[in-house]
Amino acid sequence: MSEERSAGLHDTSAAPGAGAEAEVIACSDFSASDLDAYGAFAFGCPAMGFEELESDEFEPMWDDVEAELPGRKVALFGSYDWADGEWMDLWRERAESAGITVADAVIAKDYPDEAASVDCKALGAALA
Ligand SMILES: Cc1cc2nc3c(=O)[nH]c(=O)nc-3n(C[C@H](O)[C@H](O)[C@H](O)COP(=O)(O)O)c2cc1C
Repeated sequence: MSEERSAGLHDTSAAPGAGAEAEVIACSDFSASDLDAYGAFAFGCPAMGFEELESDEFEPMWDDVEAELPGRKVALFGSYDWADGEWMDLWRERAESAGITVADAVIAKDYPDEAASVDCKALGAALA
């Protein structure tokens, strides 16, 4: 999900509205050593490959943090286009197999429409 789109998640102000602050961080700038600085995490990645995570920047970061996420507040979000969101089902299953409790998972076809924007606000509130 592009920075503009992930920023849109935070622009909904759901987490701040619920009394929390949100910071948008590019996956290339985030690693397991940053986890303790935050109380909750919304990881965003579009469907790439064949219903896969983006492999150049996002998946290396996810590989790094995954084992450290159990016990933390985690939500997932991302956009897709021609399929039906299977990549998110697979990602969520992978996360849960690693012991991560996924508080919420939001998908948007191409760009968040009104319904997906509502879902994004709920995701932020779930993490606050
Ligand atoms: C190389 C590539 C692979 C993609 N693979 C899938 C896919 O497996 N399933 C799907 O539904 N959409 C797929 N898409 C569509 C993207 O997930 C969709 O356009 C998404 O909104 C892109 O988000 P972004 O603009 O933030 O990168 C793919 C797009 C590209 C460029």
